[in-house]
Amino acid sequence: MKETLVLTGSLLIFSLVSQTTEAAYTIGVGRADCTGPSAEITFMGYAKATQKGCGIHLRQYSRAYIFDDGSKRVLFVTVDACMMNHGIRKEVISRLSQSYNDTYTFDNVVISGTHTHSTPGGFMEDVMYDVPALGFVKETFDALVDGIVRSIRRAHNKMVDARIFINSGEVDGANINRSPASYLFNPEEERQRYAHNTDKELVQMKFVSTVDNRTIGAINWYAVHPTSMNNTNCLVSTDNVGYASILLETSRDPDSLPGQGQFVGAFASTNLGDVSPNTDGPRCQNTGERCDNPSSTCNGEAKYCVAAGPGHNIFESTDIIARMLYDKATELLTSDNSTEVTGEIRFIHQFVRMPNQTAQYRMDNGTVIEVRGCAPAMGYSFAAGTTDGPGEFDFTQATKTSNTFWNLVRDFIFPPTPDDVACHAPKPILIMSGNIKIPYEWQPEVVSTQILMIGNAVLAPVSGEFTTMSGRRLRDTVRQAIVDNGGPSDARVILCGLSNVYTSYIATYEEYQLQRYEGASTIYGPHTLTIYLKLYKELASNMMNNVAVTSEASPYQFPKHLLGLVPPVIFDSSGWFFNFGDCIQQPPSEVTVNDTVVVKFISGHPRNNLLHESTFLTVEKYENGKWKVIATDSNWETKFIWRRTDFVKGSSEAEIRWHVTGNVEPGTYRISHFGFYKYILGGVFPYDGTTRNFTVRN
Ligand SMILES: *[C@@H]1O[C@H](CO)[C@@H](O)[C@H](O)[C@H]1NC(C)=O
Ligand SMILES: *[C@@H]1O[C@H](CO)[C@@H](O)[C@H](O)[C@H]1NC(C)=O
Ligand SMILES: *[C@@H]1O[C@H](CO)[C@@H](O)[C@H](O)[C@H]1NC(C)=O
Ligand SMILES: *[C@@H]1O[C@H](CO)[C@@H](O)[C@H](O)[C@H]1NC(C)=O
Ligand SMILES: *[C@@H]1O[C@H](CO)[C@@H](O)[C@H](O)[C@H]1NC(C)=O
Ligand SMILES: *[C@@H]1O[C@H](CO)[C@@H](O)[C@H](O)[C@H]1NC(C)=O
Ligand SMILES: *[C@@H]1O[C@H](CO)[C@@H](O)[C@H](O)[C@H]1NC(C)=O
Ligand SMILES: *[C@@H]1O[C@H](CO)[C@@H](O)[C@H](O)[C@H]1NC(C)=O
Repeated sequence: MKETLVLTGSLLIFSLVSQTTEAAYTIGVGRADCTGPSAEITFMGYAKATQKGCGIHLRQYSRAYIFDDGSKRVLFVTVDACMMNHGIRKEVISRLSQSYNDTYTFDNVVISGTHTHSTPGGFMEDVMYDVPALGFVKETFDALVDGIVRSIRRAHNKMVDARIFINSGEVDGANINRSPASYLFNPEEERQRYAHNTDKELVQMKFVSTVDNRTIGAINWYAVHPTSMNNTNCLVSTDNVGYASILLETSRDPDSLPGQGQFVGAFASTNLGDVSPNTDGPRCQNTGERCDNPSSTCNGEAKYCVAAGPGHNIFESTDIIARMLYDKATELLTSDNSTEVTGEIRFIHQFVRMPNQTAQYRMDNGTVIEVRGCAPAMGYSFAAGTTDGPGEFDFTQATKTSNTFWNLVRDFIFPPTPDDVACHAPKPILIMSGNIKIPYEWQPEVVSTQILMIGNAVLAPVSGEFTTMSGRRLRDTVRQAIVDNGGPSDARVILCGLSNVYTSYIATYEEYQLQRYEGASTIYGPHTLTIYLKLYKELASNMMNNVAVTSEASPYQFPKHLLGLVPPVIFDSSGWFFNFGDCIQQPPSEVTVNDTVVVKFISGHPRNNLLHESTFLTVEKYENGKWKVIATDSNWETKFIWRRTDFVKGSSEAEIRWHVTGNVEPGTYRISHFGFYKYILGGVFPYDGTTRNFTVRN
């Protein structure tokens, strides 16, 4: 009895104390390598089948953040991948449940893709999205799941008492609207409320441990496509936002190599649907003329109209955009004008079958009409691609008329019904993906709708790429619904793009009318956004009123074995005169700042082992009687380039490039290569090789 009283007493004191101290949350941050197979797998993003991996420039990471207020917990993960999908989220949650029971579920877990277009594809399951990669690639899927789960375990295992701060600032010159003609279709009075046709604000949440006042991590959201690397790039790269993360993390932990420090700093995706980083805008590659006409064509052809800049080449452009984001994030991280996030954690989630939804839409003249969702379909302009990466065929954007030949091909495969045509109008349908389930689903019908609330910071994950104006409308709707239902008046809504399920684009009803790429890729028809606004409003209201929701739909069940035509690695051979790891091109004996050291080794296929949490290369400096690693394949200054030298014999070489930057100290250096080879009679074995020493002089 006495013991119980004492216990109750101390609990009372504890709760009094915790009300007056500021550490309202426990927070865990974690990061892990999730790099996919870096050679001979088509990249996801530009839908260009011939854009296959040839090595690594920047490794992919998954960054996980867990927030707990003592009674409720939410998990936000951002992954260096083109997008997320249901299959990966489901597998991640299933693996977590083996260790943590029902701590992490569809309800409280968000997984968002950064949208880099330079990482391996084939992980999507839905047929249409895996077509460029020749179907499902289990190696990519597993690499992502392994890395995501590892990052979450790391976050879970080091939860600390911490405070959350939110801040934002404008970044100018880092993005442009790539469909400005569509944007202009939005009502004038709505456009007048905004200074720009893209969002310029970088929003940051930072996490400060109350144990030692250390800033343990930060998440930054900025609307921009990670397409500074164009569709000619074949090195795995996390593009502008991925490099911004590496810059931020290594600046906080200067003694750590990329991907290895304590501080976990992410740049996550938001309403980037119509937003390009190629700030010089589109030009005709054949004539040099501008091509920012509504159809983005050069003499009628889309394939020559490509946007670039601000640098002279794709690496320089990636670097410039990354540094703009990194600079602003650093400024916010160190400024003292941020606002503390306080209040309880809430979350709500619902799977919804979009083609079955209806909503009310107020027309310009005030009449309210009932609108509906359509079965998924892609329009003609989808095949035109964008000015960040035009399509391969003779399609152009802003197409509202159709072509007899393509209609014939389309109808032979899967014809739309008259009702489909009416539902999607004015979109001319090219791919009626919603009507075909052979061999399985082509595009999702069921999306994930979700809201997480951490005090007055509200995360709204969405299943696709919202355009600038779509994102603004969703944020306003959610904020208003929260305020209307008794939530904090300073609630700040952050749209988390490309989360959980991928369903291409979400343009506004008005933008949809022009049928540029984003409108053509708005798969549930002209009122896709109208329906989302209704769903998220209801969700916000239910969340605030503690009304439990159930999902009336569940995502498509894919068969256990998915179709994939990518052949496995058969075997590797080093040739008669060499061994794996032999250095066949040595460095010069002496190099200096701004030189690029190029060396080559006899190699195995990088797909034999992805070397997660490790590296295909090291640059080492001889220091105090020991070799010290100063760079890996995650460093900006290095490139790991793999190429086949003889397909029949199975031989290949690894080229390693190291750019000697101004901060490299003079001394003795060497470069090593690590890998695995596949023996012709079976088995996969490690090898390594090292160059001779060379000198970096002043
Ligand atoms: C797992 O969670 C369920 C539901 O909350 C609970 O009934 C069960 O006891 C838990 N199992 C373990 C091992 O904690
Ligand atoms: C806070 O400081 C940052 C960095 O100096 C600045 O970009 C931002 O505009 C400031 N915000 C406010 C609300 O003053
Ligand atoms: C953390 O910061 C607060 C306020 O700046 C200060 O009062 C406290 O002593 C610091 N604690 C540690 C462990 O440095
Ligand atoms: C890609 O960028 C490179 C420069 O880095 C340029 O030479 C090339 O023309 C661009 N190609 C396309 C299709 O954008
Ligand atoms: C959803 O719509 C499809 C076709 O439009 C219909 O077959 C199905 O019964 C509907 N499902 C529900 C749950 O309303
Ligand atoms: C508004 O426009 C729609 C379609 O053009 C029309 O059907 C409706 O009658 C109009 N309503 C009014 C009040 O003019
Ligand atoms: C290296 O190149 C940079 C940029 O081109 C230049 O500013 C710098 O002066 C060069 N350094 C040396 C030592 O040549
Ligand atoms: C490379 O340099 C290290 C350190 O100076 C030395 O111990 C080693 O013998 C050198 N190796 C060669 C092959 O010169």
